[in-house]
Amino acid sequence: MSFIIAIDGPAGSGKTTTAKRVAQILKVIYLDTGAMYRAVGYYVLSKLGDTLDEEKIKPLLSEIEIRFENVSSERRIFLNGQDISDEIRNEKMSQMASRVSTLKSVRDFLVEEQRRISKDTSLVAEGRDIGTVVFPDAQLKFYMDCTIEERAKRRFLEYSEKNIEADLEDIKRQIAERDERDKSRAHAPLKMAKDAILIDTTRLSKEEQIKFVVSKAQELKDCV
Ligand code: DC
Repeated sequence: MSFIIAIDGPAGSGKTTTAKRVAQILKVIYLDTGAMYRAVGYYVLSKLGDTLDEEKIKPLLSEIEIRFENVSSERRIFLNGQDISDEIRNEKMSQMASRVSTLKSVRDFLVEEQRRISKDTSLVAEGRDIGTVVFPDAQLKFYMDCTIEERAKRRFLEYSEKNIEADLEDIKRQIAERDERDKSRAHAPLKMAKDAILIDTTRLSKEEQIKFVVSKAQELKDCV
């Protein structure tokens, strides 16, 4: 029987590292829904520039084909056949993704895609509305949270490791701006599902987060 593990939470809370590794351990698909919003943001920016005009964006959605593929054991995202995995990982694209994600037509389009990708397969999906909207019947739901100071520090270290120049205070401000937009939007705002398990990752190592989720999943696998 297939099962779905939903992991939601704000930027930098540890979702990606945990979801990726848990999917690997359980040998199931990892679905990064944030990358899909980034892909739409990337396409909108390239076709229309920095706009949020839904009337102009809506007709573009039917031109978008998003696909994930494993390349050298890495999950890469393809937009209309082009690997855009690296291009979407910067602050500009984070903000663009967050902005287009406020539009109902964009959300409807991507939620349908996410459900299509997930049909009849087990997976670990991460995002903002996985447990609340995309897969409300997921067998296991987590909400990862963490102080903004710690999240900004983690992002800063990530950038340093990749030799990307960054300023801690700028990162903190950008994360706060994105949190605010993601939590207050009218459609599918970021919030904890009633039946989700809260994980405060502020003082947890990556290994501890992964171990906790895997242990819950194993209890679940014993049951299904
Ligand atoms: O997870 P991420 O940082 O890559 O997500 C980028 C933006 O996409 C995020 O700020 C809000 C949006 N998003 C969303 O609205 N719903 C999701 N399920 C995933 C991401």
